[in-house]
Amino acid sequence: MELQFKRHRRLRQNAAIRNLVRETQLHPYDFIYPIFVTYGEKVRNEVPSMPGVFQLSLDELEKEIKEVVDLNIQAVILFGIPESKDEVGSGAYDDHGIVQEAIRLIKKLAPELIVIADTCLCEFTDHGHCGLVHEGKILNDPSLDLLARTAVSQARAGADIIAPSNMMDGFVAAIRYGLDQAGFTDVPIMSYAVKYASAFYGPFRDAAHSTPQFGDRKTYQMDPANAREALREAESDVAEGADLLIVKPAMAYMDIIQRVREQFNLPVVAYNVSGEYAMIKAAAQNGWIDEQKIVLEMLTGMKRAGADMIITYFAKDVAKWLQGRN
Ligand code: PBG
Repeated sequence: MELQFKRHRRLRQNAAIRNLVRETQLHPYDFIYPIFVTYGEKVRNEVPSMPGVFQLSLDELEKEIKEVVDLNIQAVILFGIPESKDEVGSGAYDDHGIVQEAIRLIKKLAPELIVIADTCLCEFTDHGHCGLVHEGKILNDPSLDLLARTAVSQARAGADIIAPSNMMDGFVAAIRYGLDQAGFTDVPIMSYAVKYASAFYGPFRDAAHSTPQFGDRKTYQMDPANAREALREAESDVAEGADLLIVKPAMAYMDIIQRVREQFNLPVVAYNVSGEYAMIKAAAQNGWIDEQKIVLEMLTGMKRAGADMIITYFAKDVAKWLQGRN
């Protein structure tokens, strides 16, 4: 009797065949590049835990934007480090705040580049929480008004997409209402619908100076142990009018990316966060891993899981690698 089995290796025998049958491709259009903007002049501070990522003053932003555009990256997401912080995060909704000024500048330099504004208070509050605080509690409803004001101010400055990351309940509804009232009916909301209370944000908090000064974010960000809750969160955001759904972090949450993709028909965005970047950079600098191969494999995994696009600090590197540049 003849041995019966399938020959899966037929479709792996050379590079051309493998290229033909490949199910997931990375393209520079898939990536959103995060940029940290700060006050001052000639500031180009490398974030110690994120080699290759800089806090940039506005005069330094021009070079960065030119590079991003040259690499065919279509979108950036902005985070701001203000000169001063207060209890109510005034810098977030100041029409001349650091993020608003950066948006205006980028839209002048590169009108075609999609500018996404992260909408949160934590970088602007002295306590470092994403909403208003009273007697040690993070208040939900009173924070919504300030978040909506922040989004409107960002849209007024020219932001193409609003990306609220604060995890207050009702933030999409409040921001959608605020934007519509102000005439920004065409500005989409890319909601951080599913955001876990994750240790993978550590390096970002160094970069954005946004570590909470007391407690943690566990009363508003999600418990990493929960998956069904992620679907409830996403469901509310869809009902409230979100246009795109972010899942964050990405690497340890591929199952969540897949479930959100299967359950909802909106575009899904994976956020490849700062801790994921830092780990790979550190291992690569030690010569322990092949950075390029690891990064491409990781990002391919996120797309395979269901992400339509990925926010990643590796965006410029990947765009170069995909063009065969180094
Ligand atoms: C603001 C915000 C955070 C990140 C994006 N927006 C930090 C946090 O929630 O503490 C993290 C991004 C990263 O780690 O790369 N709320």
